[in-house]
Amino acid sequence: MSDSTAISRVWPAPAAGPLTDPELAALYGRAGRPHLRVNFVTSADGAVTLDGYSEGLSGEPDKRVFGLLRMLCDGLVVAAGTLRHEGYRAVRLSEPRRAWRREHGLVEYPTLVVVSGSLDLDPAQAAFADAPVRPLVLTRDAAEPPPGLTEVADLVRCGPDRVDLGAGLAELRRRGLDQLLCEGGPHLFGALTAADLVDELCLTVAPLLAGAGPGRITAGDAGAPRRLPLRHVLAAADGTLMLRYARGPQEKPPAGAAPAA
Ligand SMILES: NC(=O)c1ccc[n+]([C@@H]2O[C@H](COP(=O)([O-])OP(=O)(O)OC[C@H]3O[C@@H](n4cnc5c(N)ncnc54)[C@H](OP(=O)(O)O)[C@@H]3O)[C@@H](O)[C@H]2O)c1
Repeated sequence: MSDSTAISRVWPAPAAGPLTDPELAALYGRAGRPHLRVNFVTSADGAVTLDGYSEGLSGEPDKRVFGLLRMLCDGLVVAAGTLRHEGYRAVRLSEPRRAWRREHGLVEYPTLVVVSGSLDLDPAQAAFADAPVRPLVLTRDAAEPPPGLTEVADLVRCGPDRVDLGAGLAELRRRGLDQLLCEGGPHLFGALTAADLVDELCLTVAPLLAGAGPGRITAGDAGAPRRLPLRHVLAAADGTLMLRYARGPQEKPPAGAAPAA
C-alpha cells in the first residue's frame, strides 16, 4: 500500500505512522457475535451525495476502507434503491483479500443481499448476472418477481405487507451470514435504525462542503434517537476522517426483543 494515502489513528490512542491493511482490518474486525455494520460516506456538511451519487464523496482512503469492510463480512446488504441508482456491479475482491478470507476460514466472496419490497429488479444487472455467489433478495411474501430474477437470485420472503427487516436478518443468520455489512442507502438505514438493528456505523467524512440540496445518510419516518459510542477516529493525509461507532455486546437487545422506546 506504499502509494496509497496514509491513514493514521488519532483517537483513542494516537498510533505512530500510517496503518497497513492488516492493521486497518484488525481495527474494524469481525465481531464475535451476529453483527450489523453500516457504512456510509458523507460530506463535512452532511450530504449523502454529490451530483446525485456517492462517488464524488469517496476518495482513495474511503475506497480502501470500503473494500476492507467488504473483505470482513459474510453478507453485503444493499437496498434496491441504491442498487438500481448506483448501478451495482458484481461483488469482487482482489486476490490478497480473497486469500485473507480463505486464511480466516471464510468463503472467497460475501453474499450480496438486496432488500426490495417491489422486486423491481433487473436480472441482467451485473450485480446479479455476474455474481460469484448467488445473491439473496429479502422481499415481501406476495411480491411478484420479474422474469429471470429467480434464475439469478434466491428470494427470501419475510413479511406480508412490507419487508420485516428483523425477520430478514434472522433468516440471513440462520443461513450462516453472521457478519453483515450494509452499504445503504438512506431509506434502508432509516428503517434499520427504527427497528434497532444497527450495531455499528462506519462513517467517512469527506473534507468538502456539498452545499444545500442532497439528503442525509438516513431517510424515512422519524424515530427515537439511539446512543452509539465512538470507537475510533482515523485520519487520512488528504483530510478524510473515518469514524467508527458501535454498541457493545451488553448494549445489544436480546434477539426478538421489542425495539427500545
Ligand atoms: N453516501 C453514501 O455512502 C451512500 C450510500 C448508499 C446510497 N447512497 C445514495 O442514496 C441514494 C439512494 O437512496 P434511496 O432513497 O433510493 O434509498 P435506499 O435505501 O437506497 O433504497 C430504497 C429502496 O430500497 C428498498 N427498501 C429499503 N428499505 C426497505 C424496507 N425497509 N423494506 C423494503 N424495501 C426497502 C425499497 O426498494 P423497492 O422500491 O424495490 O421496494 C426502497 O424503495 C442514491 O442517490 C445513492 O447514491 C449514498
